[in-house]
Amino acid sequence: MSRLLIEGAKKLSGEVEVQGAKNSALPILAATILCRGENILHNCSNLSDVDAAVKILRYLGGKVSRHDKTMLVNTDDIRRFDIPHGLMREMRSSIVFLGAVLSRNKRAKLSFPGGCELGPRPIDLHLKALRQMGAIIKEYHGILDCSAPKGLKGTKIALSFPSVGATENIMLAAVNASGTTTITNAAREPEICDLADFLNKCGAKIYGAGEGTIVIDGVDKLDSAQHTIISDRIVTSTLMSCAAITGSEIIIRGIVAEHLNSIISTFEEAGCKILCSKGSMYFQAPEKLRAVKSIRTMPYPGFPTDAQAPVMSALTVADGTTCFVENIFESRYKHVGELARLGANIKVEGKVAIVEGVDTLSGAFVEAQDLRGAAALVTAGLAAEGTTEVAGIKYLERGYENFEVVLSGLGATVKKI
Ligand code: UD1
Repeated sequence: MSRLLIEGAKKLSGEVEVQGAKNSALPILAATILCRGENILHNCSNLSDVDAAVKILRYLGGKVSRHDKTMLVNTDDIRRFDIPHGLMREMRSSIVFLGAVLSRNKRAKLSFPGGCELGPRPIDLHLKALRQMGAIIKEYHGILDCSAPKGLKGTKIALSFPSVGATENIMLAAVNASGTTTITNAAREPEICDLADFLNKCGAKIYGAGEGTIVIDGVDKLDSAQHTIISDRIVTSTLMSCAAITGSEIIIRGIVAEHLNSIISTFEEAGCKILCSKGSMYFQAPEKLRAVKSIRTMPYPGFPTDAQAPVMSALTVADGTTCFVENIFESRYKHVGELARLGANIKVEGKVAIVEGVDTLSGAFVEAQDLRGAAALVTAGLAAEGTTEVAGIKYLERGYENFEVVLSGLGATVKKI
């Protein structure tokens, strides 16, 4: 099991290019199941979650090759409609394959994604929507056995919560359905727009992605396309957290500033100076951060749940008290106990975490239990005096590409052992 060794309490400096968004790459890889011919996807990060999506595509019969950050995907020969349990479990967001496989084959058989490190991750909204579109779904022994003998039909779907995964699954099911599908209270995340952009390049007719109502006119078939995955706003937020906690000045290249509004305003409130221009961000942190009044995780364009953990790390050394409210997932404070080992002062009660800023953190052995929690521990380790050893790096590698190399490039002393 690999670990990261961090010699902390050092400033970062220099420039860094942010990687492509994991949460865009995964649904777009699933979307290729609906396309004929060779798809060319640029800016695909090298991540274990992306590898897991590739394994699913290959199992189904797709041909996938990687050339640095470009993936070539051809799914013309896909015949299978089942995804084995082992592959489903490797990546929680594998449920996004459901809509695409069902649409392509009129059948899909996969295991329930089940609970996970963030608490239960229900898929009732996905299933309800697919049933509304004419799918027959049987649930037994942890298996979802889905069929649509007469094909999927467009309809009006009103989501009770703007679920990202459900919106993606409905879009994937709807692009080749007969008639028009209208999703109200749809998720508005930038990754939804990226998926729509890719599908529209392939010939889909999706209108309104990024707004609360998405309208999809079904088409008979989709061609392939060439597409560049958007940059990862959560990795950008993590890099901002790393610079903030170490009082550093860095430049982050390849960003989309408008995807980062809630993060930028949070760090500005903490006293950081941020200038964005032409896809680059200049970020300068003060010697001592100020606490932020309150941070509530919300669907986009609100503060992202995925950024909660690394931003919390940054604010453990702020002057004053910050109140976090986690509204999206139940068990998303697993990093808190580990941050306490480094000297942070955080109290959790239900969905609220109160962070009292401390003067310094001190290095210790800590263990990550989920992806963004791992990023939070690395962030804290950069500021902690002495050595921090972060175990559970397999979680980090699900979403951060060569993060130790990225941080070393900014002058941090980080080593993978
Ligand atoms: C969520 C995040 C997304 C992030 C991703 C990976 C939100 C709104 N979504 O997406 O930004 O990139 O995690 O960490 O922040 N829910 C149901 N029934 C369903 C589906 C969801 O009750 O069928 C609930 C979930 O329990 C959760 C909320 O809706 O409380 C958000 O779920 P959803 O957006 O679907 O999660 P992800 O797609 O995993």
